Amino acid sequence: TEKPTALIMIFGATGDLANRKLFPSLYNLFEKGKLDKFAVVGVARRSLSNEEFQLRVKESVKENGETEADIEEFVSKFYYHSHDVTDSSSYLALGKLAEELDSHYGLNGNRIFYLAMAPEFFGTIAEHLKKDKLTDVAGFKRLVIEKPFGHDLESAKVLNKQIRKAFSEDEIYRIDHYLGKEMVQNIEVIRFANAMFEPLWNNRYISNIQVTSSETLGVEERGRYYEKSGALRDMVQNHMLQMVSLLAMEPPIKLTTDEIRSEKVRVFRALRPVKGEEVNEYFVRGQYDKGSMNETDVPAYRQEEMVNPESNTETFVAGRLMIDNFRWAGVPFYIRTGKRMKAKSTKIVIQFKDIPMDLYYQPEKTVNPNLLVIHIQPEEGITLHLNAKKSGQGTDATPVKLNYANKGIDGLNTPEAYEKLLFDSLRGDATNFTHWDEVALSWSFVDNISAVWENTKEPSFPNYASGSMGPDAADKLLEKDGFFWWPITEIDVEKC
Ligand code: BG6
Repeated sequence: TEKPTALIMIFGATGDLANRKLFPSLYNLFEKGKLDKFAVVGVARRSLSNEEFQLRVKESVKENGETEADIEEFVSKFYYHSHDVTDSSSYLALGKLAEELDSHYGLNGNRIFYLAMAPEFFGTIAEHLKKDKLTDVAGFKRLVIEKPFGHDLESAKVLNKQIRKAFSEDEIYRIDHYLGKEMVQNIEVIRFANAMFEPLWNNRYISNIQVTSSETLGVEERGRYYEKSGALRDMVQNHMLQMVSLLAMEPPIKLTTDEIRSEKVRVFRALRPVKGEEVNEYFVRGQYDKGSMNETDVPAYRQEEMVNPESNTETFVAGRLMIDNFRWAGVPFYIRTGKRMKAKSTKIVIQFKDIPMDLYYQPEKTVNPNLLVIHIQPEEGITLHLNAKKSGQGTDATPVKLNYANKGIDGLNTPEAYEKLLFDSLRGDATNFTHWDEVALSWSFVDNISAVWENTKEPSFPNYASGSMGPDAADKLLEKDGFFWWPITEIDVEKC
């Protein structure tokens, strides 16, 4: 594959994301020889010299560093621009630096603008980039933009309008880092490269699908953001719905960005809206109470920094989604995500329907349904739950598992996901980024739910102990339909 060449401007270069993810990811790409010519301009408010900035970059990549010389060469391509996001003269100076670097490194006028900072400035920056001519380039120009993309449909539309003034839809790379995860990318391959799954992948053979993404961390230092966001906006609107769309989409006719996106968009269009009184019937919200994690006492959400002591913000969501099309009519997709839960784990369980008649019935012991489990993180793999004969006399059936363990990069929001996404943006592949249509449809789905939750205080909050699997109501949600959550801690892929 061709090696990309570009000037990469990182807005928010002194922030956490740049330090923890972007610099190490870029370093890995550099070290693997995947980049041709490049230079990076770190852009942020505080004043730093190039040398000071390079030291910070060095610090953030030193764990991945192969040799000292390697790191020196890498950081020598980093420059710093102290910036005022609302001031044209600051953009003009940045433009001048960009031109100098472009001709010094021979970057063909290719530019990536990576916005890794507070979202309130996304629109202003995009407008200035255009007005102050930073987007007038001979090569490509691309905007890579971190979440949150708006706060609801209305604000997302406003933001989209602003950035569309400077970039066309195919120049906008909206990051959803779950789409960079190895096993999330594997969903399509598992489905579409195996003859044995696709014929069963529908309402005739699947009884329900469960997608869980649980975290052990609390809100940490992000109370101010999280109070306004909550789990619904923070995880459901993007990561959870994205995973559902990959599980539910029709096979694309080709593996091109447009074909895959349009199949995903059709899933979002078929998602049955949950509104008004149905919200509390099909969706459950939770907020963590104090509790004990790894034998350490942890505070309740309401005691966290920057959090209202009477906060109505949810830190947990479980919901039942229905996809109204021929393939999925009648099959519930259950989703569940929360902070301060028992384990850090993202898993998908596809539960097949029971066999038509149980020949192996014994009182108290029925044959288990077949399950296909996709382990997204921390373990990566696939497990197929089958039934086989118990060895010895007789024909008793017993559950057995077929395991495939993906060779264990740990997938935890690691640079690996960012590394792939950064590289995709450099080589112009937008497949694993979210299209505006997906963003708009997922916001309108989520807005119906927040409209109800924001107007009614949840009297049971806090309603789950830290270290638990969430509120009881989340279990009831499945019980009503005759199902239960497959316990994520007991269906781990066996270590190979
Ligand atoms: C982010 C959310 O998008 O995803 C965080 O803003 C959350 O609140 C994180 O912790 C989870 O990502 P991962 O990769 O650790 O599952």
